[in-house]
Amino acid sequence: MEIIDGKKVSEDIYSVLKSEVDSIKAAGGKLPHLAAVLVGNNPASQTYVAAKVKACEQVGYGSTLIKLDADTTEAALLKTIHELNNNADIDGFIVQLPLPAHIDENKITQAIAPNKDVDGFHPTNLGRMVLNLPAYLPATPFGIVKLLEAYQIPTLGKHCVVIGRSHIVGSPMSILLARNSNPGNCTVTLCHSRSADLSHHTRQADIIILAIGKPYFLKKEMIKEGAVVIDVGISRVESTTTKSGFKLAGDADYEDIAEKCSYITPVPGGVGPMTIASLMYNTLLACRKEIYPAS
Ligand code: GUN
Repeated sequence: MEIIDGKKVSEDIYSVLKSEVDSIKAAGGKLPHLAAVLVGNNPASQTYVAAKVKACEQVGYGSTLIKLDADTTEAALLKTIHELNNNADIDGFIVQLPLPAHIDENKITQAIAPNKDVDGFHPTNLGRMVLNLPAYLPATPFGIVKLLEAYQIPTLGKHCVVIGRSHIVGSPMSILLARNSNPGNCTVTLCHSRSADLSHHTRQADIIILAIGKPYFLKKEMIKEGAVVIDVGISRVESTTTKSGFKLAGDADYEDIAEKCSYITPVPGGVGPMTIASLMYNTLLACRKEIYPAS
């Protein structure tokens, strides 16, 4: 069994991005600039956004953090998005999800200009992804593809079971791995909360991608010998062994399944760091106008 070290792979990506930034600087060009919009006080969102700002500092990008109150109206948020769409200094921006319940997430996602949608959530980018056209790929699925690539894990003809059908992880993941590309060319089964006999599917899988947010869900009886397990879950659970009384848990019961796997991502330190590295990568593409050359 080999542990997939997402921290290490993300650091390798940051080194490449840093040297790109150095070349842009040397040529007197405009440095990549990412903006993040955070609405309200969701503690997990605050942590994620802070990590994104820190990553910008690490690679030498400009960053702008826009914090809005939890009672910000949908109209006010749309106005902020409109301003970012038209601000030539900002190459790309994200609106951290989830949003407060009174704001329609779909409306917000669709208001972001596709050429600045470095999260890859806009229907234009999702559609282009499906068609195998240049697009910003959603950060978590893109990060997972990069992990499979870094560890040279074969995907062609493999059976991949994705558990979870969210718009930002499970659904795009299933499309990316089924595409005619490398990594890709998998036979993909997309399971979700209404799937019957989940174990029947997971036991057949060469690759399992877990994105359901249920700590310790995947047990060893549910997988076959040599399976590759990629764990997107990150939940806070009580712990008697940490000072804080909490620890982070993935969707896989790591201790239970690790020896039966060929590869496994730890939580934390697996998929998480790759999500942010992918966002940084997309921001460089945005700055270079590689996906939308005319913009
Ligand atoms: N919430 C959880 N993951 C993400 C992400 O990748 N982007 C945004 N904008 N919000 C998220």
